[in-house]
Amino acid sequence: MTNTLDIQTVSKKYERKNQAPVQAIDAVSLKAESGDFIALLGPSGCGKSTLMLTAGGLLKADSGSVAVNGQDLYSLNNSQRAEFRASNIAYVYQEFHLIPYLSVLENVCISDLANGGGTQQRAEELLKQFGLSDRRDHLPSELSVGEQQRVALSRAIYGGAKIILADEPTGNLDGENAKLVLQALKQFSDDGGIVIMVTHDERALEYAKKQLKMNAGRIE
Ligand SMILES: Nc1ncnc2c1ncn2[C@@H]1O[C@H](COP(=O)(O)OP(=O)(O)OP(=O)(O)O)[C@@H](O)[C@H]1O
Ligand SMILES: [Mg+2]
Repeated sequence: MTNTLDIQTVSKKYERKNQAPVQAIDAVSLKAESGDFIALLGPSGCGKSTLMLTAGGLLKADSGSVAVNGQDLYSLNNSQRAEFRASNIAYVYQEFHLIPYLSVLENVCISDLANGGGTQQRAEELLKQFGLSDRRDHLPSELSVGEQQRVALSRAIYGGAKIILADEPTGNLDGENAKLVLQALKQFSDDGGIVIMVTHDERALEYAKKQLKMNAGRIE
C-alpha cells in the first residue's frame, strides 16, 4: 500500500493577548510518500513543532490543507479526526506524554483502548527491540529520560500508524540508544511508512533520506 502526506500552503499565526501575534508557519507546502524519511531542521522557534502538530491533525492551521492518504484531516469533525489519527498517524512529542499511572507495557498498548490493533506479543517484541524488556512493569516515573523516549516511540510504532511524526526523538539519547531509535524509524520507512523527524542531532541526519530546512516559518 502506498501512503501519502500532502501539506498545502499551510499558515498558522498564534494570537497573543495585547501583544503582536507570531506567524509560526507561513504558506508551507510539503509532500511525502511511502519510504520517505525526512529530517526537518532549523533554528529554535522557526516553526518546526507547529508544522508537525498541524501535519499530525493536532492543530488546525489558519489556512491551507493537510491530507493523509487522500483524507483531508481538517474537513473531519473532532471525533472523526481523532479516530482517523489513531489508526494512521503516530506522534512522538518533544515531551513524552506517557500516562503516569500506567506501566511501560500498558503505555505501549494504549492504542488498543481506541482501536483494538496489535497484540501484547507485538508490544513485548518492540520493548525487546528497544532494550526495555526488563522495564515493562515500571511506571514512567521509574524510567530514565532516554527510556521514556523509547517507550514513546514503541507506542507510536505499536499503534500500526502509516506516518510517524517525531519531534526531537533522539534529543535525550546516548549514541547506542539513538541508534536503536533511528534504525527503527528507518525500518518503518523502508516498510512503506512515512517518517518526518525534527532534529538538531548530527547522528540522526545519517539515517534520514532527505533533509528540509525551515527558517522563520518557511521551508527553504
Ligand atoms: N501557544 C503559543 N502562543 C504564542 N506563540 C507561540 C505558541 N507556540 C509557539 N509559539 C511561537 O511560535 C514560533 C514557532 O514555535 P515552534 O514551537 O513551532 O518552534 P520550533 O521550531 O519547534 O522551536 P524549538 O526548536 O525550540 O522546539 C516560536 O516563535 C514560538 O515562540
Ligand atoms: Mg519544537
